This record gives sequence, structure tokens and C-alpha cells, in this order.
Amino acid sequence: MDIVLLGPPGAGKGTQAKRLEDKYGLVQLSTGDMLRAAVASGSELGGKVRAIMDAGELVPDDLVIQLISERIARPDARKGFILDGFPRTTKQAEALDKMLADKGLKLDHVIEMKVDDAQLVDRISGRFTCATCGAGYHDRNHKPKVEGVCDRCGSHQFVRRPDDNAETVKKRLAAYHSQTAPILPYYRAKGLLQSVDGMAGINDVTAALSRILDGGAARPAPSPAGAVVRPAKRAAKPAARASARTKSKPARAKAKPVRKPAPKARPKRAKKRPIKRRSKTKV
Ligand code: AP5
Repeated sequence: MDIVLLGPPGAGKGTQAKRLEDKYGLVQLSTGDMLRAAVASGSELGGKVRAIMDAGELVPDDLVIQLISERIARPDARKGFILDGFPRTTKQAEALDKMLADKGLKLDHVIEMKVDDAQLVDRISGRFTCATCGAGYHDRNHKPKVEGVCDRCGSHQFVRRPDDNAETVKKRLAAYHSQTAPILPYYRAKGLLQSVDGMAGINDVTAALSRILDGGAARPAPSPAGAVVRPAKRAAKPAARASARTKSKPARAKAKPVRKPAPKARPKRAKKRPIKRRSKTKV
């Protein structure tokens, strides 16, 4: 299974990718992580992209396409992958299609995580990450269960990203809206795009994503008008409501049959009463 998680900075792509890795045995391919690794290693590529990333701008397409192409070719990616942060432009989306087609592969799901901009700055400014396995946390929303210990790998080392400050986040958001959001129609037209409500709690988002990956949410038909919005949420909520209804309706349905025997009982009493009344009358 090969999937793309799309969404603005702070939408929860990395958080959920880690969970989907663990649950489905997929490999997270985060271009952001790859670029940060390049910066940290002091490589030539790192030197080229450091200032761009710190400014909250997008790294040139050709560099990122090359990076992801090499990564997808590695054997572990054949377990299936979760692309996190790629593609981010129409050129990258088209290049991805080509590199997959060349390998005889295709995307199974493209999932947009929808979060209001107002919440993203708060999420990102409170973010910290396990330095060993990359699991993401938040100062208030999502702390490790044991303070200072990564839930996922037990590491005691955490890091904060240099581009996680309010000023850069606003630039990253602007880049998302101007350069990345335009690829949504590209995937919608292919009938691949589904959405989840990224404003929900972390566990609820994982559940919504799992429903899609498990085939529980209907894949929407291509809709140039963009009529399909948040199918995963819609699939989830009505399902939840439906199950609530299913639970309450049978309860009521069961209640009725329970009440129905009552009339059966009443006729019995009714039979007895006339006898008594008659006997009383007679007496
Ligand atoms: P990248 O590393 O990809 O960053 P991003 O896309 O901006 O996304 P983030 O990693 O910031 O957010 P996320 O959605 O993963 O959120 P997270 O799960 O951490 O890119 C960085 C830079 O690299 C770019 O600016 C660009 O320069 C360059 N780059 C990368 N890819 C590129 C490409 N393809 N082309 C060109 N340039 C590229 O969650 C955030 C916080 O919220 C965490 O603290 C988390 O605990 C919390 N949280 C998560 N979910 C929830 C929830 N449901 N409720 C409450 N809190 C939550």
C-alpha cells in the first residue's frame, strides 16, 4: 500500500505517519526529515537547502524529486510507503506519478488532513520530536506518557526544529496555500483524494485514516466541483451516528416488544376482573 498524506504544516502528517508505520508495516518517507538530515550531515545538498528551509520556503522541485526518487528505490520502500511532505507542487505530483509508473507502481490513497490555520501556529510552536525515532509530541496536546521518555522507542533525547517559530510557520502556511493546495484538484480528478478532519484528536484522526486504509470509507468519485469533502469524516460521523441510532433503535424496538406482552397480560387480568365484578355484582 502506497499512500500520500497531504496537509499544511502542523496538520499532523508526521504524527500519523509514525502510527501508520507501526500499524501497517509501511515506511514513512518524509522529505522534510530527509532534508533536515542533509542539513545536519553538512552535505552539499544540506548546504544548498538550509537557508531555504529556515526561511519557510520550498526547496527547488528538482532537488526534492531526486531525493525521493532515490529513497523510493530502496528495498524497504517495497513494503509500502507513506509520503509525508511530498509532493508539494504540481511538478512534484507529476514527477511522482512518473517515477511510480516507471516502477510499475501506483498510489493507493491520497489523504488530505484538514486543519484550520489558526490552530497550526499553536501546534507547531509547541512541537518537539524524539531525536531517535522521530515521534512527535506537543507541550500541551500530546506529552509523552512518562515525562522525558519517548512512548515509541524509550529514548530520552528530544529536539525542536529551527523552523518551528510563529514567523516561519506563517511563511510555510503561505507556501502551502499557494503551492501545495493546488495539487488537491489534481488528485481529486484522479479519484484518489480523500480527506480526514485533522482538527479531531490524535486517536480519532488515526481511526479515520485506518478506516480509509482498511477500505471502510467509500472512495469518492472524481468531482471537478470538489463536491467530495471530508469523506472520511462523513463516513465516520454518520457511521458513528448510525451505530448510535442502531444501538438506540433496537433498544427501542426491544422496548416495544417488552411492552407488547403487557397488553397480553392485561387481557388476562381483564378476563379475571369481569369474573370478579360479575361475582361481586351477583353477590
Ligand atoms: P516538513 O518537515 O515536511 O514540514 P511541514 O510539511 O511543514 O509539516 P510539519 O512536519 O511541520 O507538520 P506535520 O503535518 O508533520 O505535523 P506534526 O505531525 O509534526 O517540511 C519542512 C521544510 O522542508 C519545508 O518548509 C520546506 O522548506 C522543506 N520541504 C519538505 N518537503 C518539501 C518538498 N516536497 N518540496 C519542497 N520543500 C520541501 O504535528 C505538529 C504538532 O501538532 C505536534 O506537536 C503534534 O503533537 C501536534 N498534533 C498532531 N496532530 C494533532 C491533533 N490531531 N490534535 C492536536 N495536536 C496534534
